[in-house]
Amino acid sequence: MQIPFNRPYLTGNELRYLEDVIRSVREGGHLSGDGRYTQKVQDFIQSRFGAKKALLTTSCTSALELATRLLNLKPGDEVIVPSYTFSSTVNPIIMAGGRPVFTEIQEGTLNIDPEDIRRKITPRTRAIFPMHYAGISCAMDEVMELAQEHDIKVVEDAAQAVNAKYKRTYLGTIGDFGCYSFHETKNYVCGEGGALLINTDDRAIIERAEIIREKGTNRSKFHRGETDKYTWVDTGSSYLPSDLLAAFLYAQLEKLDEIQKSRMKVWNAYYSALNPFEAPGKIRLPVVPDYADHNAHLFYILFRDERTRDSVMKGLKVQGIHAVFHYIPLHSAPVGLGLGYRKEDLPLTEEMSGRLLRLPMYAGMRDEERDYIITALRDQFRSL
Ligand SMILES: Cc1ncc(COP(=O)(O)O)c(C=O)c1O
Repeated sequence: MQIPFNRPYLTGNELRYLEDVIRSVREGGHLSGDGRYTQKVQDFIQSRFGAKKALLTTSCTSALELATRLLNLKPGDEVIVPSYTFSSTVNPIIMAGGRPVFTEIQEGTLNIDPEDIRRKITPRTRAIFPMHYAGISCAMDEVMELAQEHDIKVVEDAAQAVNAKYKRTYLGTIGDFGCYSFHETKNYVCGEGGALLINTDDRAIIERAEIIREKGTNRSKFHRGETDKYTWVDTGSSYLPSDLLAAFLYAQLEKLDEIQKSRMKVWNAYYSALNPFEAPGKIRLPVVPDYADHNAHLFYILFRDERTRDSVMKGLKVQGIHAVFHYIPLHSAPVGLGLGYRKEDLPLTEEMSGRLLRLPMYAGMRDEERDYIITALRDQFRSL
């Protein structure tokens, strides 16, 4: 049997909604962004997750870029980020002239460690970018308290955390800004896509976000009839996706509960089947604190060391099972080293990254596929 690492799930309405957009062109509709489906998706994110304002973007990367622009960083300003994350969390900080201050993770959740944030705050700190790894929430009370104490902003990288919660509040709606991903490897997808959640009623911030997203123009305001001129008012980029992508995404979000249920079934099956191997110390499974309602975004196993992880990964490959690891810590990647970091600066991050393996995880995984993976793992664990 061949089992991919990821297989995008289709709900069945994607083609119908895509066709709807294409047909609407004959009646004066358009394929570009901010059409009927963009509005539907944004309304959904606002009403279901409780964001004050949601703007659909071309990716989570562009949502992070947009959020960072809204922080008005000045050269030398510092932003506290985990090193155990994707490059997209950190690129915008550097692009805006700021300096990323890489921070250690907590051993349980692999999320940013509030104690280390506290140690790293300086008079130059402008923001904290927590990333909710595996859709399991960071310790948000501690993060928000530190931010309030030092009057700094919080941008949640919730790329993996759509539909996950911290103490009954949806992730992405707690910080000043939240960023979602709808890339095909995420829970709800449209190929490439994202959203910026703006958690304030401040009209000036919302309007500036719309302007940056529309190549620095006030097109959104013009379309609403709030200005009689459509013109260049700031510097910006092209962060607004086509309404075709929004239509695809709407077909997914409509079936949010069905998708979540299907992923959770796989996650729970992995957890209960592999749990017996934890007590003898062969592996460690994900830790979900009481404050977190996760979204079964990914399932990882931590092994004793890198050698064991690599040998299990190879063994699974021989059986046609595609398991992968990530992230190579950013502080010890070429760009991080170029910024002056050394591998030994964040020892826990380095260690965890070397021990971690991600199992195939997707909605709609067939029971035979899941059982085949579990049997293959059990066989390998016996010899650990
Ligand atoms: C933590 C994190 N942030 C940001 C991104 C970027 O998301 P996108 O592909 O939508 O730009 C990813 C993608 O995997 C991610 O894992």
